[in-house]
Amino acid sequence: MEKEISIEHLRNSIENWLGSYFKDKGSYNKKVYEAMEYSLGAGGKRIRPLLLLLTYMLYKDDFEKVLPIASAVEMIHTYSLIHDDLPCMDNDDLRRGKPTNHKVFGEAVAVLAGDGLLNEGMSIMLKSCMNEQHNFIKACSFIAESAGAEGMVGGQTVDILSENTKIPIDQLYYMHSKKTGAIIKASIIAGAILGEAPKRDIENLEYYGQKLGLAFQIKDDILDIVGDTEVLGKKAKSDLDNNKTTFITTYGLNKCIEMCNSITAECIEVLDNISGDTSKLKDLTLFLLNREK
Ligand code: IPE
Ligand code: IPE
Ligand code: MG
Ligand code: MG
Ligand code: MG
Repeated sequence: MEKEISIEHLRNSIENWLGSYFKDKGSYNKKVYEAMEYSLGAGGKRIRPLLLLLTYMLYKDDFEKVLPIASAVEMIHTYSLIHDDLPCMDNDDLRRGKPTNHKVFGEAVAVLAGDGLLNEGMSIMLKSCMNEQHNFIKACSFIAESAGAEGMVGGQTVDILSENTKIPIDQLYYMHSKKTGAIIKASIIAGAILGEAPKRDIENLEYYGQKLGLAFQIKDDILDIVGDTEVLGKKAKSDLDNNKTTFITTYGLNKCIEMCNSITAECIEVLDNISGDTSKLKDLTLFLLNREK
């Protein structure tokens, strides 16, 4: 294993790949690429592609081989953010420290930029499967499904329907595990499948992914309340403004902080049961718990 490859190095590789991907594309449709690049290039923590690469690297060294798939996941995630911010969804004006896509390009182009990123992500994944073994198709199909109606889109649907009403706890867990958890979990599982991880590891990583996704969204709900707009790069108290049901409205702030801590501890424990050096995944897990944005 090339232990010297740092998280920072991987993050730079993701940035470079994404940064050059749309160069010289487009003609009369140039505007949609401009809008796609605007949101994709605005930064972001790149957590999902990092999780995919770090999990893959538990088993294989050549992370460049799956970098396009990791980057495709970031495109799909960025599409979900553009649509999440639209006036018909969360109606937010700030994202990744910049005016939201529809504020700059208008709603119609923002919808199309989201569609464009989703389809580009799918297309990159399909091309990555050419001339590869069955595990590539399995991993990419898992990602595609996790972004859809049984995954992120399903969770977002419950989120929107939860506005101005109180939803039962089981629906709250469904919402979080799908709207945010699904793509996070899929990034981890896809990394494991691409790396040809043993079955027992995949089972453990599935549990890790599920827990990490939940902790991630609880932390997101906490930051909505205690975070600072300037630091977050998105508007604090957006959930309050939209009268959303969140973990905070259900359990209160203190209990949420406690839950976030204990779920993260569980995540670390699961990583201890996995073959290979999971220290970087642990670092990333703790970073997510302690993040301020
Ligand atoms: C924000 O995701 C939306 C959620 C799914 C909670 P991130 O917190 O990963 O946002 P970026 O990608 O770093 O901007
Ligand atoms: C959104 O959840 C999850 C997505 C699928 C984009 P939120 O609406 O809480 O995300 P933020 O807080 O706007 O980033
Ligand atoms: Mg939302
Ligand atoms: Mg939102
Ligand atoms: Mg939020």
